[in-house]
Amino acid sequence: MSSGDAILRYVPGGDAEALGRRLGGRRVIKLASNENPLGPPRGAQAAITDGAGLANIYPEPTSESLRQALAERHGLRAEEILVCAGGTDAIQIAAMHTAAQRPGAAVIAPTRSFLAYRVAASQAGLRSVDVPLVDERLDLGAMLAAVQDPSVGLVYIANPNNPTGTSVDPKMLGHLLARVPERVLVVLDEAYIEYLAPERRVDAAALVRRHRNLVVLRTFSKIFALAGLRVGYLLGDAATIAGLGRFVMPFRVSAIAQRAAQAALEDELFVARSHLHNRRERAVLTRGLLAMGLAVTTSDANFVLVRLDREAAPIAAALRERGIMLRTLEPYGMEDALRITVGLAEDNRAVVDALGEVLAASREEGELAEVS
Ligand SMILES: Cc1ncc(COP(=O)(O)O)c(C=O)c1O
Repeated sequence: MSSGDAILRYVPGGDAEALGRRLGGRRVIKLASNENPLGPPRGAQAAITDGAGLANIYPEPTSESLRQALAERHGLRAEEILVCAGGTDAIQIAAMHTAAQRPGAAVIAPTRSFLAYRVAASQAGLRSVDVPLVDERLDLGAMLAAVQDPSVGLVYIANPNNPTGTSVDPKMLGHLLARVPERVLVVLDEAYIEYLAPERRVDAAALVRRHRNLVVLRTFSKIFALAGLRVGYLLGDAATIAGLGRFVMPFRVSAIAQRAAQAALEDELFVARSHLHNRRERAVLTRGLLAMGLAVTTSDANFVLVRLDREAAPIAAALRERGIMLRTLEPYGMEDALRITVGLAEDNRAVVDALGEVLAASREEGELAEVS
């Protein structure tokens, strides 16, 4: 066995173009990767086009202009921000940093939370510790108890959580952060935070000022609609950010990505429009699924988790043949579940209709098999 065989793998949401080609060029509805269906903001598109002629020039080595813009946005200093190649990069940087400081440390990464945490831990030679969710919610009390173990070096807290879409109580989160031992690095993953109702959000800048062992993760992949460019960042105490920054090579983020991210940051109207679209369509999608008698978790993110009354993989496969890509959740131990990203209105309706038909056909097949 090569050493790589022991490393957990992350399986991405799938390739819509390849499926479209296989289905004879038909349009594919991909609601498998929690992308923003409204497309990139105009200003970001212009920045991408304008940047084309400068592709021969290296970017700003540590994204200075973007860091400055982010610092102003959050009321922090540029030294308190680390720009990296998407949130997954930040997740990996935190694991590498922990492994270097505390080889073989344990990482609190719940099984029903973003799989990349456990992948990053295993890549860095760290051991993941599960803390089961309760009613599809992170159990902050159990996580707080688990971090007291002296072997723990890192904890990932996704708010809202992927793949369940649930969020944590801000007060409970404050309580946990105040009690995590200083030796444990906390990554508060706010990849979906802009989809959460404002009154449920915590003040990330205030939190990192209070807790030196906390970093807050943000990404341009979700509401800012730049998943293809790979930009994300961490907020944290300057010394903590400097420590993590040692694991980032200069020029990590391309010049075009830096410029597009800065343009997207300025487009507050686009973010507000995306939030409203998501809130409205998430409700429509949820109602449609509930009307089919399915169990749907109330979501604070841009996707919904639905439990079928049967194995989800064959249902997802049948939907793929109809040009619809949804996410199955076997790696999370949820064989009966699908995660559906909130898409454009017509696509959400098409997905609910198609899911209803495929489930009805599957039930009929099951009944026939029982009779014969
Ligand atoms: C909880 C969570 N964190 C972080 C990310 C990272 O996304 P990206 O690497 O595109 O920034 C994702 C992506 O799906 C996510 O679900």
